[in-house]
Amino acid sequence: MHNNTVTPVAVLGASGYVGRELIGLLDEHPDVGVAFATSQTERDVLGHRSVPLEAADGRWSDVGMVFSCLPHGVSAPVVERARVAGARVIDLSSDLRLSDRAVYGLTEVARPALPEAAVVANPGCYPTAALIALLPFARAGLIDTTRPIVINAASGVSGAGRSPKRELLFAEVAEDFRAYGVGNVHRHLPEITGHLTPLTGPADIVFTPHLLPVRRGILSTVHVPVMEPLEREAGERVLLDAYAGEPCIRVIRGGIPSLRDVVYRNRVALGVTPVQHVSRPMLTVVSAIDNLVKGAAGQAIQNMNVMLRLPETQGLLC
Ligand SMILES: NC(=O)c1ccc[n+]([C@@H]2O[C@H](COP(=O)([O-])OP(=O)(O)OC[C@H]3O[C@@H](n4cnc5c(N)ncnc54)[C@H](OP(=O)(O)O)[C@@H]3O)[C@@H](O)[C@H]2O)c1
Repeated sequence: MHNNTVTPVAVLGASGYVGRELIGLLDEHPDVGVAFATSQTERDVLGHRSVPLEAADGRWSDVGMVFSCLPHGVSAPVVERARVAGARVIDLSSDLRLSDRAVYGLTEVARPALPEAAVVANPGCYPTAALIALLPFARAGLIDTTRPIVINAASGVSGAGRSPKRELLFAEVAEDFRAYGVGNVHRHLPEITGHLTPLTGPADIVFTPHLLPVRRGILSTVHVPVMEPLEREAGERVLLDAYAGEPCIRVIRGGIPSLRDVVYRNRVALGVTPVQHVSRPMLTVVSAIDNLVKGAAGQAIQNMNVMLRLPETQGLLC
């Protein structure tokens, strides 16, 4: 049931980890209501009757916003059909993140373009953590691109989605910790590079993701070669100036964040320190997010709020 002030929305891929997180957040949002949800396998998602994806065609004009939480490859053609039918869409898959057919929705950067956007590509979870850490130093011209930026990031298991995979069984992941995509081959690397190098010029980024046996959260440790030595306070000042007034970014002064600072919140927590015992100056920036919230569903709602000209953090705990 919707009254006139409530915008109806659709969630595609509602039974997945991101879709369920989104439904849970939308249910608490005072200005929107879930009009329909899709799943191929489940008829009820958190109390919402769901329909197969095929049934969404023909219903695009019923809703003021479509969220696609479909797998990459599956999402783009559906987003296109919804867009052509006149719907506004936030795509949480990776399909359009390097495309000029969508606004790249890192909210803190994209804010001015969002109110008029028809299609928004919600950033990936690892890229959100990495770019929020790196962009202020890139904008300030502080990154020494003659040396590589090294990103080591660990994600909870929900980052891999809900479809069963042998290597994600409890007995495989519990009490273990492993790297994957080793050798700089993870599919999120082009997204990080593609949204950083317009500011820095060509730069090498070495990105190694790890699988952490917790349900949710990403902790990203970003080693940044800098042009000149910076004390901790100077590094913090770069972040504090860049994110002054940002409701969803918290710079921890004199400390380093952990997952406890961010889980279940639409927040990026940042800490920075100079690297000791190296011959040329570097900083280490630690960036923590909840992969399902600021890394996916929460950032999508933050984007929707700006697109619909609602208060940016409506329905969110930052
Ligand atoms: N997990 C994260 O931390 C995270 C973060 C940022 C972005 N993302 C992106 O968000 C999207 C969803 O991720 P997720 O982790 O929620 O994945 P997931 O748990 O695997 O969920 C995928 C959803 O898509 C549906 N689906 C799968 N194949 C389909 C098909 N061929 N046709 C129609 N529906 C299909 C599934 O429905 P049924 O199972 O009912 O068939 C399910 O609802 C992905 O593109 C992912 O890359 C994920």
